[in-house]
Amino acid sequence: MNISIIGTGYVGLVSGTCLAEFGMNVTCIDNNSEKIKNLNDGIIPIYEPGLESLVKKNINEERIKFVTNLSDGIKNSEAIFIAVGTPSRIKDGHADLSFVFKAAEEIANCLNGYTVIVNKSTVPVGTGKKVFDIIKKKNKSVEFDVASNPEFLREGSAINDFMRPDRVVIGCESLRAKKILSEVYRPLYLLETPILFTKRETAELIKYAANSFLATKITFINEIADLCEKVGANVSDVSIGIGLDGRIGKKFLHPGPGYGGSCFPKDTLALVKTAHDYNSQLGLVEHVVRSNDLRKKNNINLIKKASVNKLNGKKITILGLTFKPNTDDMRDSPSLILIPKLLDEGCSISAYDPEGLESAKKVFDDKRISWFDETYSAMVDSDILVILTEWNQFRALDFKKVKRLLKTPTLVDFRNIYNPKEMKEIGFNYFSIGRPEELFL
Ligand code: UGA
Repeated sequence: MNISIIGTGYVGLVSGTCLAEFGMNVTCIDNNSEKIKNLNDGIIPIYEPGLESLVKKNINEERIKFVTNLSDGIKNSEAIFIAVGTPSRIKDGHADLSFVFKAAEEIANCLNGYTVIVNKSTVPVGTGKKVFDIIKKKNKSVEFDVASNPEFLREGSAINDFMRPDRVVIGCESLRAKKILSEVYRPLYLLETPILFTKRETAELIKYAANSFLATKITFINEIADLCEKVGANVSDVSIGIGLDGRIGKKFLHPGPGYGGSCFPKDTLALVKTAHDYNSQLGLVEHVVRSNDLRKKNNINLIKKASVNKLNGKKITILGLTFKPNTDDMRDSPSLILIPKLLDEGCSISAYDPEGLESAKKVFDDKRISWFDETYSAMVDSDILVILTEWNQFRALDFKKVKRLLKTPTLVDFRNIYNPKEMKEIGFNYFSIGRPEELFL
């Protein structure tokens, strides 16, 4: 089966590579010629575990290729996936659909036989219809369908999420399109993956509802964590205690510095905008957006507390700059808000991240930040050690060594990796989220 994918960002590249691995002939198309040249040489623009070797394998076995020319790229494709970016529009927070519509126009100019155009980009309800109208207007004679097939993969575990998904959602209303898309996902039938066929609008909304629900779950536990601190309760036990109820589930109940990344912040905001457009109540998600923004701004308060309100002149080590582990993605990361605030308070920063250093250096061009390429050297002579992202290499630190390196043994753990009692026993001033000190005295 011939498939083409427009856009070689996270979703396009991972989906294309995994479909090639399933045995399809995949052509990935991107107008960035340098990126395409690199990809053909097996050079991957993002850090995603397992992706590089899978791309190289499928290039060698001639199931995937990367091109810049759209009309060549989509020739003989039975399905064309649109996987271009839909960032938040700066002026109003709506999803910016200009790349999707541009792709639709280009496809329209080149179609010459029945094809299913599949929206994999995260797009607001009604976009599939707009894509259909754009193509129909430009190319009246050609037969085609437009389907919605949202992607649910997570950065850092994207390959596994694509190959072993909880479900596949396909929004399409014609049998012809359904047949082709069933064929695309046939390899997943063996794993008994639920494949949910819906109306196109329903599939579009499922994506936003899923991300907004997960963001709501995180925000809920973050707010409960704040309450725990005030009433003397332990949020970790609350998470376990509620998560064991099968109706609630234990995932996405880890409190932290607020969610970030390229999806939750943008998609919650876009869903709120859609609700406004349709005069529909979505106060819950509106609150989630506000609460998460505020949380990121308030993260500095925990470090202030650890410094006994004397941040000026302090040297702070930050471990973890990306929005989550196993990615080099800095988009909407809590570090983007916290680091400038610490600098404003007169701190100097020593920073380390296993994969995000290069992206972080581009964002922060400030002489008060020293960059390190290893965990321990970043701690030398610091007043406070801060763990902001829970990379595996920060989960079993050698605290004897850490104590020797730091000026004072103070740790602010935004991901609750360590046990407060044990940290106290080894002589650390330890601060975490939603686990008040008096519980562990
Ligand atoms: C998210 C969704 O989980 C995917 O299903 C979806 O496909 C993707 O967005 C997308 O729309 O493309 P991702 O942004 O890669 O995936 O990362 P997550 O693992 O969901 O984490 C998002 C944020 O929530 C991170 O900042 C993470 O630290 C935070 N988080 C997550 C918590 O603070 N607590 C938790 O319990 C879980």
